[in-house]
Amino acid sequence: MPARFRLDLDFAPDRCEYALGDGLLAEVGPKTARLVTSPVCVLVTDSGVAATPHAAAAESSLRRAGLAPRTVVVAAGETSKSVESANRLWREFAAAGLGPDGAVVALGGGMVGDLAGFCAATWMRGVSLVQVPTTLLAMCDSAIGGKTALDLPDGKNLVGAFHQPRLVLADLAALDTLPGREFRAGLAEVVKCALLRDRGSLTHLRDASPALAARDRGEVAGAVRLAVEVKADHVRGDVNDRGGRRTLLNLGHTTGHAIEAETGYAGVLHGEAVAAGLVVAARIACERRLCGEDLVAATHATLGALGLPTAPPTGLDPARIAARTLLDKKRRGGRRRMVLPHARGGAGLYEVDDAEFLAALAG
Ligand SMILES: NC(=O)c1ccc[n+]([C@@H]2O[C@H](COP(=O)([O-])OP(=O)(O)OC[C@H]3O[C@@H](n4cnc5c(N)ncnc54)[C@H](O)[C@@H]3O)[C@@H](O)[C@H]2O)c1
Ligand SMILES: [Zn+2]
Repeated sequence: MPARFRLDLDFAPDRCEYALGDGLLAEVGPKTARLVTSPVCVLVTDSGVAATPHAAAAESSLRRAGLAPRTVVVAAGETSKSVESANRLWREFAAAGLGPDGAVVALGGGMVGDLAGFCAATWMRGVSLVQVPTTLLAMCDSAIGGKTALDLPDGKNLVGAFHQPRLVLADLAALDTLPGREFRAGLAEVVKCALLRDRGSLTHLRDASPALAARDRGEVAGAVRLAVEVKADHVRGDVNDRGGRRTLLNLGHTTGHAIEAETGYAGVLHGEAVAAGLVVAARIACERRLCGEDLVAATHATLGALGLPTAPPTGLDPARIAARTLLDKKRRGGRRRMVLPHARGGAGLYEVDDAEFLAALAG
């Protein structure tokens, strides 16, 4: 499989170029320069990424292209996706002299992408955003679709804006420094997208799991491409997430978010929680004859082969997980609604009662 691709994503009225390849960090300068008329830009990253060679590579590419980047490093970790960090970034934008003709370049995982994206969305009512994702999750998911957000002590992603990046540049080489657990967690979103597409994609993922575990460039590129195509397909036509197809991307997330919240966002990664959520959704779908037992088995086997969990961490109270899912944003009139997969790909949104949910959670 070729280890590079380029897609033109149409999120009307916006367009976004997505490019993935080996060594693309060297192109962030020339590609960003083509989007702006001012040399002033701000490169935002976190301390984890700043400790790798990627930050210096991106900064020097921007300089070589004639741009004048100001680099801002926030502490790694979800706690930096805060109003305090946003305030710091806006002040840095002001100090850099960033105008509407400049750009914000977000180099990092979804945390940096959401934070820098939100600041770009709100700076002078919107400045060009370039996403340079360095985690598999960000390449597959958070860097595209235009959702930007901050967390509050009251909850995750409570403050946010839609702001499409003009360019997403994913360098496969950046993944070389990503810890294995973070890499595997990103694969959960790929499994979700395979379920949404078709059975062949799921089977392929299971068969490719040894190559993916070895981070074979061609297979990783194929997995990211699948995820980007499926996400773009669901975002297009429902860009602002108004109850259309974009909702289906929530497959596995009703349970996943509840598991994350129950663990206090510690000890379990988002992708790991979503993996368990995908199995729960498949079991409920099977009980309702939306799919056969074989889809549950294939989901389970694929996640297992990719080194992902297929159940919530032990010690969590099922009743509390069930109660948490009632707070999900898809709820209607206090009733739980979940995305359930269909036998031949695709999914739908269904009401699920406590008994049905608890039975699937128990396995
Ligand atoms: N906007 C969206 O549509 C969307 C979608 C999904 C998730 N998200 C958000 O994404 C965030 C999670 O993103 P994430 O999983 O990428 O986590 P993250 O951004 O917190 O990154 C995880 C860790 O990996 C480190 N890291 C990043 N790239 C690295 C690299 N190449 N080498 C070594 N270390 C590296 C980071 O420093 C950090 O410590 C959450 O805030 C979530 O809400 C947003
Ligand atoms: Zn997710």
